[in-house]
Amino acid sequence: MYYKIKTYGCQMNLHESEKMAGVLEKMGYSPTEDETQANVIVFNTCCVRDNAERRIQGNIGILKQEKLHRKDLIIAVVGCMTQQSGAAELLKKKFPFIDIVLGTANLDQLESAIVARTKGKKTVSIPQDSTMDVDKTMPIARTSYPNAWINIMYGCNNFCTYCIVPYVRGRERSRAIADVVADVKNCLSQGYKEITLLGQNVDSYGSDFQDGTDFVTLLSEIAKLEGKFRLRFMSSHPKDFDSSVIDVMASCDNICNNVHLPVQSGSSKILKAMNRRYDREKYLSIIKEIRAKMPSVGITTDIMIGFPGETEEDFEETLSLVREVRFSNAFMFVYSPRKGTPAAKMEQIPQAVKKERITKLVALQNAITKEISDTYIGKVLEVLIEDVNPKHEGTVCGRTESGRLVTVPGSPDLIGQFVKVKIAANQSASLFGEIEE
Ligand code: SAH
Ligand code: SF4
Ligand code: F3S
Repeated sequence: MYYKIKTYGCQMNLHESEKMAGVLEKMGYSPTEDETQANVIVFNTCCVRDNAERRIQGNIGILKQEKLHRKDLIIAVVGCMTQQSGAAELLKKKFPFIDIVLGTANLDQLESAIVARTKGKKTVSIPQDSTMDVDKTMPIARTSYPNAWINIMYGCNNFCTYCIVPYVRGRERSRAIADVVADVKNCLSQGYKEITLLGQNVDSYGSDFQDGTDFVTLLSEIAKLEGKFRLRFMSSHPKDFDSSVIDVMASCDNICNNVHLPVQSGSSKILKAMNRRYDREKYLSIIKEIRAKMPSVGITTDIMIGFPGETEEDFEETLSLVREVRFSNAFMFVYSPRKGTPAAKMEQIPQAVKKERITKLVALQNAITKEISDTYIGKVLEVLIEDVNPKHEGTVCGRTESGRLVTVPGSPDLIGQFVKVKIAANQSASLFGEIEE
């Protein structure tokens, strides 16, 4: 008996797929890459942009033929896409061969849904966000050793006007600090070397407890645990990323000097229309403080172009912010209207303009990324080896503390080890070097 999970979207989804894999393995299923061999296929979906949704729908559609040959194949569609209002019914109508539909907060029902399906019952179960529990313990089949993802909170309260996430993930719910710390200890005792804390907006961790526990409390608790490991987190929101977070990052050796701080736009006018609750000056002042307190920090971001009302001047402000900050890398997106969000009802920018802007932005950021990467050449840096690099035979790869990918000659038994690497070259996606003895 085999399963295959197809994951789309963010790290949150990657980790939730590890939880569903845990459930399926407990039920006796083994992983397979081959869809024709799989008895259960799960689509863990994303709806943050239209192109993500369309790709997923295309991939579900392809399975129609497979399902005609194999009536006992179980197809489950779960996650963010199903959680949009009316989406579950639409999916069932468009793809009547789907057996199971679950929402973002009841993935733990996967087992009972599969058991029910084998007895002939189809399942659709989408919870309302008021019923979303914070902690339903699910077994986890981790797939990213030496890194372990750990949820610290679920949901989002920010309602950026372009974003569907608060509608499909519900309100912010923080996990108890003792539970998070216990998970971290457990992963460290199993040999994991890097912990990445996950939340849509990690800096507001604990605000729902109202007992003074906050993200800094959590980081400090974890950073003082014994043993050599790296601590990372994502994502941060500039409105909540304050000096106390920067200070704890700067003072604890094991918290990586790597910040992912989505800016979205360089124009204060657009930031206001996006309901981001910071302006260009505030963002730049945070960057200044980060750089002053952590000189070798790597800063990455998310940027969106083509938000309704974005003029040529607004776009120029985004380019100038990118030039000023010099992000080591950026995820760059074309704004995509999402049904039910305020921005979808605003007057939209023509497709051709969006295309021109994204091309310019990507070219600028790529040039900066290359320049920053070139400055690493000749340096000796600590790298945690994470995987083989499939593009170059006989090599393994990992990241520097600041988040740069580094490839070195070596065998898979190095995975999970910290090594010192002398950087010799910079090619498109990775730095290259040799391990120093
Ligand atoms: N909670 C995180 C990540 C949210 S989704 C955060 O706030 O940073 C990841 C990124 O997708 C966002 O940062 C944003 O740049 C992009 N995004 C969200 N909604 C979008 C939309 N409607 N169109 C295009 N990009 C979008
Ligand atoms: Fe979406 Fe904004 Fe929440 Fe991030 S902070 S998930 S962009 S609403
Ligand atoms: Fe997508 Fe849901 Fe993540 S919409 S970006 S998978 S929270």
